[in-house]
Amino acid sequence: MNFTSDHNWISESLEIGKEMLYLSQKEVLGIGLSEKEILNLTKDALIAHGKKEYEMPAKIGVHPFPEVFFHAMPAYVPSKQAVGAKWIECYPNNPSKFQLPQTTGLLILNDVSSGCPIALMDSAWITAMRTPAVTSLAAEALHPDAETFGMFGCGIQGIEHVKYIGHTLKKLKKIYIYDVREEAMDRLIQEVQPKISVEIVKGKNPEEVTKSCEVLSSATVILKEPLAVIKDEWVSRGQTIIPCDMNTFLDPVTSKRADKYIVDSIEEHELFDQMGYFPDGLPKIVCETGEIIAGVKKGRESKEELIVCSNIGMAVCDVVVGREIFNQALANNVGVKLTL
Ligand SMILES: NC(=O)c1ccc[n+]([C@@H]2O[C@H](COP(=O)([O-])OP(=O)(O)OC[C@H]3O[C@@H](n4cnc5c(N)ncnc54)[C@H](O)[C@@H]3O)[C@@H](O)[C@H]2O)c1
Repeated sequence: MNFTSDHNWISESLEIGKEMLYLSQKEVLGIGLSEKEILNLTKDALIAHGKKEYEMPAKIGVHPFPEVFFHAMPAYVPSKQAVGAKWIECYPNNPSKFQLPQTTGLLILNDVSSGCPIALMDSAWITAMRTPAVTSLAAEALHPDAETFGMFGCGIQGIEHVKYIGHTLKKLKKIYIYDVREEAMDRLIQEVQPKISVEIVKGKNPEEVTKSCEVLSSATVILKEPLAVIKDEWVSRGQTIIPCDMNTFLDPVTSKRADKYIVDSIEEHELFDQMGYFPDGLPKIVCETGEIIAGVKKGRESKEELIVCSNIGMAVCDVVVGREIFNQALANNVGVKLTL
């Protein structure tokens, strides 16, 4: 579909320039995109990114307190007629302080032809889905034969990661999980084990999980000062580590000595480095995750390579998934039309 026909298609259901569609989290979820659909959409976004067929400046942000951030995340993916911006916050202490999620946010989408806003929707669910999709696609590209996967952090992201990973790592036999909160591990097992056939086991400690798994991921907290919970001496050659919490959980020494340090966005990582999130310096980056998924750059070249693939989160994924949700909502008369 070209831009004009897309504009005309939207106009059949929405008076562009006069109204936009509002979708609550319940409505976003109610569209019912499956994990496989999210994986396919995320893959399309990563391929567009890898082929440089996108526009996405590095996130700009504001920081009311030292350990929190608000990010403005604009992106344009022409192949999907997806243009918009996510406005997202990360408050690591929200769960303990307010019993609120660390991450909440909104996504705004626009009509590419006229620029007018066409939708405003909750973005927490989209973030919760596209992030494990990125990890799972990276794992598939970098370590397709893995039989063991370890997940650190059993919150929103941890739960979804354990649900998603088996879609791409088809040979998985065991998933180890670890969280400082015992109840978070219990909840994950209770929620996810009935949905997947791969056995989920509670790790005794981070060392056991690190040493037991070929592929590891972490979604705990993002802090400027690394926690370095995964000690470098526990990490072996041949492992693949795919953090969602950047430089916090993994010992920065590991990222520096890895044979390949791959990131979703070089620009984003350089920006976080400037903001002080890599106090020991940004490791040498070999390429971007999307380039591997698109086949533009090589991923794993030998079984012995230690690979770290840090994915901070990219707006190209948000706007592509969000645009599909908007398309389905419009086609099915879901959501509330708000006057502009
Ligand atoms: N890269 C991305 O695209 C992306 C997207 C969304 C969220 N995130 C990040 O992922 C992280 C998790 O997000 P969430 O929404 O799942 O949060 P959450 O609060 O739901 O879950 C975090 C979990 O980590 C656990 N945890 C905290 N410190 C730990 C430690 N030292 N050892 C073991 N477990 C620990 C907590 O007990 C909690 O269960 C956050 O840092 C968030 O900023 C990244």
